[in-house]
Amino acid sequence: TYVVTDACIKCKYTDCVEVCPVDCFYEGENMLVINPSECIDCGVCEPECPAEAILPDTEDGLEKWLELNNTYSAEWPNITVKKDELPEADDHKGEDGKFEKYFS
Ligand code: SF4
Ligand code: F3S
Repeated sequence: TYVVTDACIKCKYTDCVEVCPVDCFYEGENMLVINPSECIDCGVCEPECPAEAILPDTEDGLEKWLELNNTYSAEWPNITVKKDELPEADDHKGEDGKFEKYFS
């Protein structure tokens, strides 16, 4: 599966939802997540994210994000249509430590 990481937090560009063939993105207040059991591993969303927030879970150290994507995709609503990014998205793009600072 692919997972959304903390680089999405406070950005939410939502370009990813436009290209997903199975509509498996779910929306929280500050970030999106992927439902790992619905993702078909096509990889088309990865290069679409301006914040480089989407990675395959085969990369090292992503266990935390896999679990978070799994948990919250069961709670948050599905999002299938692109919308405006968050107001200060460009300021928060590439910022370190966004999970600790902003995730709620
Ligand atoms: Fe959707 Fe493909 Fe991205 Fe999985 S890898 S979330 S199926 S676009
Ligand atoms: Fe987030 Fe990137 Fe999608 S910032 S909303 S994962 S395009």
